[in-house]
Amino acid sequence: MTTHAPSAIVLAAGMGTRMKSQLPKVMHPLAGRPMVDHVLASLSECDVETATIVIGPELEGAASRFAPHRTAVQRERLGTGHAVRTALEGGASNDGTILIVYGDVPLLTPATLSRLLDRCGQGAALALLVFRPETPGAYGRVIVNGDQVERIVEALDATPEELEVDLCNSGVMAVSGPHLKKWVNALKNDNAKGEYYLTDIVAMARADSETCAVVEGGGDELVGINNRADLAEAERIIQDRYRAAAMAAGVTLQDPSSVFLSYDTAFGTDVNVAPFTVFGPGVAVGSNVTIKGFCHFEQATIRDGVTIGPYARLRPGAELAQDSHVGNFVEIKNATVEQGAKVNHLSYIGDARVGKGSNVGAGTITANYDGYNKSHTDIGENVSIGSNTVLVAPVKVGDGAVTGAGAVVRKDVPSDAIALTDAPQKNREGMASKYRAQRKAIKDSKAKGK
Ligand code: UD1
Ligand code: CA
Repeated sequence: MTTHAPSAIVLAAGMGTRMKSQLPKVMHPLAGRPMVDHVLASLSECDVETATIVIGPELEGAASRFAPHRTAVQRERLGTGHAVRTALEGGASNDGTILIVYGDVPLLTPATLSRLLDRCGQGAALALLVFRPETPGAYGRVIVNGDQVERIVEALDATPEELEVDLCNSGVMAVSGPHLKKWVNALKNDNAKGEYYLTDIVAMARADSETCAVVEGGGDELVGINNRADLAEAERIIQDRYRAAAMAAGVTLQDPSSVFLSYDTAFGTDVNVAPFTVFGPGVAVGSNVTIKGFCHFEQATIRDGVTIGPYARLRPGAELAQDSHVGNFVEIKNATVEQGAKVNHLSYIGDARVGKGSNVGAGTITANYDGYNKSHTDIGENVSIGSNTVLVAPVKVGDGAVTGAGAVVRKDVPSDAIALTDAPQKNREGMASKYRAQRKAIKDSKAKGK
């Protein structure tokens, strides 16, 4: 093993023109975060703490989001070798082993990266991750001699015999730092594309009598993203991984394929998720939770024993305390529903507290926004909010209070009070049939006029 901690260079300066997007390719999200963040997370899981990310000028303004990682801006896209040189010139460490990965190959697992690092530590100056795709197409072909890699030939530069080789370069490699610097600085661009090919360092390593080892990988891990169809395929793969992990950890997904998770979705045990539910980023779910289908959650906390849905939406800052219930067509934003409280039908609860044991009737709305300011609604404990109540914030409803159906509550309601704001009801006996006759006459006279 090398004495220095491994570091990494992430190649991410590609323009991603086939994405047809204003957003740089590596910033397109997968499971709730940019694809490049998945790469950085895998690196950190195999103890690579510092990476240098080679970015294009369009990401220059966003460099600080990558901290503590360093960025190096590649202004002219002169090839993968040039990109690595840009990283080294930009201050990338060249002491220990350096892992080179691509920002648009986000599904690589820490286990595979570790295998590569280990192999490089065991006497190889370079360890290359190779694979055998069904259609080798445009991939670089890996020319081996026994268990040594002799060189990599890019498809455009390959002879017909070389194109027959099915062992392909994934692009991912681990290289001893001092060697990398020497070889990369000696690269030339006399090839079909006129680019500085990183792959040419393999032949240089052999010329220096250094060992170049291969580690074979494959399957889903090496899916690279060039267009939106690839992005959808990567999303499918990563979702399947997260679904499998959730199920292994004690979550029932009745129809895994219709439940979408984020990279950070956290579950307790005995959670039951019915079909068609989306977990955006920042969602934590406790144990013994029942999620009826067709829900959408983001940045929300669901504690033990909660029942939610179907068709519920939790927006940022929603917190459902233990044993609370949230039912159909309810939207909750920046609000806490305390223990045992219920908001079961057709409501909007925003910037609010619903106290312990309270019940919010169907159709209740917190009017939290006057077009300029957001205001808070505080509902105490064991309150009964009548159906179709409008709570005009800022407003407080004291413990044990009741609001009448249809109340428009603009003033605080003291504890134990009943708030009624409706006009008295008038019943005009026998008027319904007269009313219908009148309406029908209007309709008939209009029909004649046509
Ligand atoms: C590269 C390899 C090829 C391998 C394939 C695997 C070379 C010369 N070829 O080919 O052997 O089979 O990957 O997918 O390395 N990038 C930069 N700056 C550049 C050029 C590229 O940052 O100037 C980044 C891209 O954003 C991308 C990665 O490097 O993430 C690979 O570049 P790409 O142009 O896709 O390489 P390929 O031609 O596919
Ligand atoms: Ca490519």
